[in-house]
Amino acid sequence: MSSITHTEANAQTQAEPILEIRDLITEIRVPGRALRPVEIEHLVVPRGQVVGIVGESGSGKSMTAYSILNIFPTAAAHIHSGSILLDGVDMVSAHENERVKIRGNKVGMVFQDYALSFNPVITVGNQLMEQLLTHGRHENAKAKVLSVLDEVGLSAEVFSRYPHELSGGMLQRVGIASALVCDPPLIVADEPTTALDVTVQAQILELLKRIQKERNLSILLITHDLGIVAEICDLVYVMYVGQIVEHGTVHKIFKSPSHPYTQGLLQGASSVQSVGTHEIRVAIQGSIPGLTEIPSGCRFHDRCPHTMDICRSKQPGFYEVDGLMAACWLHDAEHSHG
Ligand SMILES: Nc1ncnc2c1ncn2[C@@H]1O[C@H](COP(=O)(O)OP(=O)(O)OP(=O)(O)O)[C@@H](O)[C@H]1O
Ligand code: SF4
Ligand SMILES: [Mg+2]
Repeated sequence: MSSITHTEANAQTQAEPILEIRDLITEIRVPGRALRPVEIEHLVVPRGQVVGIVGESGSGKSMTAYSILNIFPTAAAHIHSGSILLDGVDMVSAHENERVKIRGNKVGMVFQDYALSFNPVITVGNQLMEQLLTHGRHENAKAKVLSVLDEVGLSAEVFSRYPHELSGGMLQRVGIASALVCDPPLIVADEPTTALDVTVQAQILELLKRIQKERNLSILLITHDLGIVAEICDLVYVMYVGQIVEHGTVHKIFKSPSHPYTQGLLQGASSVQSVGTHEIRVAIQGSIPGLTEIPSGCRFHDRCPHTMDICRSKQPGFYEVDGLMAACWLHDAEHSHG
């Protein structure tokens, strides 16, 4: 063994991202073939940072979240290949027993459909207690649940309430408490505010921001709303038809996006009039293709205002453009004047 000090070892652990996805392909079996809702080459969530995944409806954001937990809402979906290192453990190759321990202990999930994620006939407190007990944390379980309810701004009285007795905003707080109760270092939040009205959305975002700071949490925030990305994220990945097309710091992406899809999303965002809708307003012609009609070459070529011949036949790799990484032929020296 090399002569590595404790301090150095700690520094290495700290530098290791909490989540690193490599060459991930997720498949959905349908009669006669397999569809691929997710094909992510590389995605990283550094410790203590908030990373956004943004894209239109159907771009594969939720399937990415399910892939991270390696648990899917449909038996037809599964991970085909790749690795998902969660605090150093590969969620793809790990045994299911180990994955059960990791879910909750290492990663908490916040869903959009909070009402669906709770059992209607068990009190809120007992549902949260159950999570602790599943992970073998019997000691002071009730005190822990009361403390996490308090942390998300709910009174002790909520412990003995049933989910249907709570408002949407309160339920989403319970959803966040449920993600936090086992103290995981990472939260994956899939559209955590989309189903809520505007005032409550703002409160839930504030809550996430506060908890992130207090706990030095890492958050992977999935949203179609660029306003939310701007408000809370440090880094952002832009997703289109299952693939990442651009990523970088939120500051740079908003200041000078390099990929035509990101540019379209941002133009669309500036024309959104009210927030209470689930639709993303995109200033891009056409609509996102389904998984059975994925275009050849660059998947965005039939909607892009800058399409060149090569875009139709060959998929672009990533190019570094002013600190951003963009998968677009426009940034290839040979084609940039094309
Ligand atoms: N059970 C399923 N069977 C077949 N296709 C599916 C299934 N679930 C999802 N898909 C497809 O997988 C792709 C990605 O879906 P996903 O739900 O991950 O998108 P999303 O980005 O989360 O969209 P939204 O913003 O609407 O939540 C879509 O083309 C969707 O139609
Ligand atoms: S590779 Fe071509 S089609 Fe794709 S975004 Fe760039 S210019 Fe548009
Ligand atoms: Mg989704």
